[in-house]
Amino acid sequence: MSLDQILAVLPSGSAEEALARQIDFDRLPAHVAVIMDGNGRWAAQRHLPRVEGHRAGIESVREVVEGSARLGIQVLTLYAFSVENWKRPATEVSTLMGLLKRYLRSELNTLLRNDIRFHVIGRQEELAGDVRRELADAEAKTAANAGMLFNIALNYGGRAEIVEAAKKLIAEGADAESLDEQRFSQFLYTAGQPDPDLLIRTSGEMRVSNFLLWQIAYAEIWVTDTLWPDFRKRHLLEAILAYQKRERRYGGIKHPAVAGR
Ligand code: IPE
Ligand code: IPE
Ligand code: MG
Repeated sequence: MSLDQILAVLPSGSAEEALARQIDFDRLPAHVAVIMDGNGRWAAQRHLPRVEGHRAGIESVREVVEGSARLGIQVLTLYAFSVENWKRPATEVSTLMGLLKRYLRSELNTLLRNDIRFHVIGRQEELAGDVRRELADAEAKTAANAGMLFNIALNYGGRAEIVEAAKKLIAEGADAESLDEQRFSQFLYTAGQPDPDLLIRTSGEMRVSNFLLWQIAYAEIWVTDTLWPDFRKRHLLEAILAYQKRERRYGGIKHPAVAGR
């Protein structure tokens, strides 16, 4: 995973190629998390039903998964469905679940070919049986892959995750003395993973919408007005370049943008 890998899927002489050549591969974000937003607005602009925006957003998912894997990003987390998204009309929710199943079926081979490990974070027990089976199948078939870890946040809520972690800790009989941030984080869905270095949100909204609340403590946030169905590798490259210009401080003093502390 390197410059050559990403250049192989970018048109030569393109603006994307010029962006890719500016990336410092020694200072990539280890974990990129994305709030994929704006599907409904994309559809509304075209006088289409909202679900058409979700359908179009699948191509953006493909672009970002392939682009991230080729760049050599260790962990990519996509926010696909929040615990609050059940408030939407039942037809929209069922279309989203159907699209997810279709995506998994059609992309499984791509995930395998690219050595990507698929992992679900969120309250899976509340999802329909057929969706859970499809997710479990994709997780099992990609479990031995050693390349990029691709988390999909489904029926995910940051506060719910923290409460669940606390419950697990109590059930384990953990004592207050030995509890610290490091230990607590091992009870989160993302146990063992680096925290996001870069958080991308599309469609211009300046909020985190209950996403990875614990893990984004020191993430660099990049918001674009681009709507999710219009998001392409070019935007991912722009986000990473912007990240590489940031100065990370972690509460201290001058610190170059490096992954981890
Ligand atoms: C993001 O697009 C997709 C999900 C939340 C599942 P939206 O559906 O939220 O689109 P907008 O924000 O209404 O434009
Ligand atoms: C966040 O988008 C959730 C996902 C991207 C899955 P929303 O569209 O649900 O967030 P709000 O309602 O604008 O905060
Ligand atoms: Mg939205």
